[in-house]
Amino acid sequence: MKALILHGGSGTRLRPLTYTGSKQLIKIAGKPISQYGIEDLRNNGITDIAIILGDNSPMDVINYYGNGSKFNVNITYIYQGEPKGLADAIYKAKDFIENDDFIVYLGDNIVLNGIEDMLNFNGYASILLARVDNPNRFGVALIDNNKIIKLIEKPKEFISDLALVGVYAFTPEIFNYIEKLRPSNRGELEITEALQNLIDDNKTVNFSIINDWWKDNGTPDDLLEANIKLLDKFTPEYNNINKCIHGRVNIPETSEIVNSQIYGPSHIGNNVTIKNSYIGPYTSIGDNCIIEDSEISNSIIFDNTMIRETKLIESIIGEDTKIKKTDNKPKNSKFVIGKGSIISLE
Ligand code: DAU
Repeated sequence: MKALILHGGSGTRLRPLTYTGSKQLIKIAGKPISQYGIEDLRNNGITDIAIILGDNSPMDVINYYGNGSKFNVNITYIYQGEPKGLADAIYKAKDFIENDDFIVYLGDNIVLNGIEDMLNFNGYASILLARVDNPNRFGVALIDNNKIIKLIEKPKEFISDLALVGVYAFTPEIFNYIEKLRPSNRGELEITEALQNLIDDNKTVNFSIINDWWKDNGTPDDLLEANIKLLDKFTPEYNNINKCIHGRVNIPETSEIVNSQIYGPSHIGNNVTIKNSYIGPYTSIGDNCIIEDSEISNSIIFDNTMIRETKLIESIIGEDTKIKKTDNKPKNSKFVIGKGSIISLE
């Protein structure tokens, strides 16, 4: 079995975080979102993986994953370019897939205990479903008598609260169905429609309903929720027992903590300096950051960021950002800030 990770798309709902980088590379608890998918595939024995690249920072993706050897997988890159739909992205991998069955993992989805249910599917395809409160944001499935009757992409009217999770299993038969698709109302080739056409031709599409937590990371609130769930599960690689560190905190030896209290679960990256500050719980801090005289909790801080005299909660701070408070009154600030910003709080 092979696998595809979809790494294209434009990530509009995550702007400004995605103006300068791909959403699938946003690091949560020390790892890019798409790495959770790659590790899930590898842990289930699938190591032949193609990453489908879009126009949003494709070189960053290649630089991070390389040939895959660091992650014990073999990675091939396939360029999709413009986001013309999930089915278009999948079709670009036809030559790579040859006659194998394959898994498609949307690079912005995190599915804890992911693909195990899909490995031994019989039929032409298999999908994962989960109950959601906002089905109009997803593809949804109507099930009757333990069979899928109908699949609709982003239904305007309620038909079901069972959403398609972003992990699919296919046989190469799906390529014949993608060839017959025409662009949908939103101008995309929809994989949901190709699946519906398989069902209409009485070609079995299996499904499993998952009850575990999963996330389609489309909005900043999704990222903050994923941060909590992943930190709840993570095992720190480095865990210095120290009286100013409380609970599960990753602190590599390259990082320095001075006169500060750090509460877990939290993840601190490499080459970070934290002085006179209070961090956590539920805080992910990237590499090469400086944090001084600040309080940060429930937040995601990207690489190369400098934060001084600031109190942040439920914030997402993009790479290379500088935040400095200029008056003496501490305030709780809640920000989503894109790469390279400079903020002075009055
Ligand atoms: O997350 C589950 C949902 O994913 C499903 O319920 C929907 O049926 C399915 O259509 C999809 O909906 P989204 O609106 O969330 O898809 P999005 O455009 O966000 O793209 C999902 C991933 O695929 C994302 O990592 C970007 C990538 N992508 C997307 C498009 C449209 C590509 O690589 N190429 C593309 O052309």
